[in-house]
Amino acid sequence: MDRVKIDAFLDRFIEFAAGATTIGLLAVADRSGLSRHLGEVGGGTVQDLAEGAGLQSRYVQEILSGLAAAGVVEYDPGTQRFELPPEHALLTSDESSPYFMGGFLDVLPAFLGQIDGVARATVHGGGVVFEDFGEAAVRGISRAQTPSQRTFLLSRWLPAIPGVIPRLESGIRVADVGCGSGTVAILLAEAFPESWVLGYDVSSEAIATATERSTTVPNVEFENRGIEDLPLDPPFELITTFDVIHDLTDPLGGMKRVRDALAEGGQYLMMEPNASSNLEDNLSPRGAMLYGTSTLHCLTQSLAGGGVGLGAAWGRQRAEEMAAEAGFGSFEPLDEISNRFSAFYLLTR
Ligand SMILES: C[S@@+](CC[C@H](N)C(=O)[O-])C[C@H]1O[C@@H](n2cnc3c(N)ncnc32)[C@H](O)[C@@H]1O
Repeated sequence: MDRVKIDAFLDRFIEFAAGATTIGLLAVADRSGLSRHLGEVGGGTVQDLAEGAGLQSRYVQEILSGLAAAGVVEYDPGTQRFELPPEHALLTSDESSPYFMGGFLDVLPAFLGQIDGVARATVHGGGVVFEDFGEAAVRGISRAQTPSQRTFLLSRWLPAIPGVIPRLESGIRVADVGCGSGTVAILLAEAFPESWVLGYDVSSEAIATATERSTTVPNVEFENRGIEDLPLDPPFELITTFDVIHDLTDPLGGMKRVRDALAEGGQYLMMEPNASSNLEDNLSPRGAMLYGTSTLHCLTQSLAGGGVGLGAAWGRQRAEEMAAEAGFGSFEPLDEISNRFSAFYLLTR
């Protein structure tokens, strides 16, 4: 046995545990209002921050100590003040920032809460159904996606699709499939009043939220309907899916249905996790996070429905192969708008 290797792995293990407990502390800070308050005032002593946020000082002290040790906040032993750098506040406290990571603080605990079910499925087969992840998962997915969708959908993502903006302005039929709580469909409908936007999702909870959020927008409609039942007539000129295909029980069938529901020359914008289809290209912390969230959520809920279990890291090469198999005429990675989390692909019928 190599003692050095044991010690090095022990250090790595401490990093894993610290990552998990820091996510836990950040989730407590998020839900209790501590993160929001820190974002507003920038910093203070335990007493200042506990009083300002209306929280129990002993908890605030322990949470801030952990967050200081993790490098989330900075601690000055002279003044005993904790400061949240404004750059960090973008991720922890500013719900409107495209960098905001608060959604992860809902989804990761919800995913970890299903470890027993995933372990059972690992032994016996099957999986954990989407509904078992609960309300926190639906809320977290929306909080994770909404800030970047609000910031970039109209300003960067749509302009990357050739010719689509004038067509949206003159009025076309659009569908956002697996629309979740409806941010993309509502943004599109508000920006393009001549177009008719349909949002579809199998989650009745998501559709109820989307419908409630859109009462003042006349040209958007939400329906509790799966991708496999996407209406074919009249056809859509533009279809979008944001982080949906890899979750499906039948991803290829879903892609074929999107193709069939598109008008001739219609465009399909697919956003999926940014990964390679080859494991050896994904051996990084981001890859670890992707395979982890996939196992604890994406994969298991697909397998729970008797699906193929594509997994979140199905990657660009597989996406291109499946686009051809689904009958799309072209597949183009939109690298100029892809980021470290998400890849965008433009498929044309
Ligand atoms: C990761 S969430 C993304 C939600 C939304 N697109 C967003 O960006 O916030 C995946 C969504 O796909 C939906 N979904 C899963 N299977 C589906 C199916 N067969 N048809 C339509 N939607 C489905 C889920 O209910 C969930 O809302």
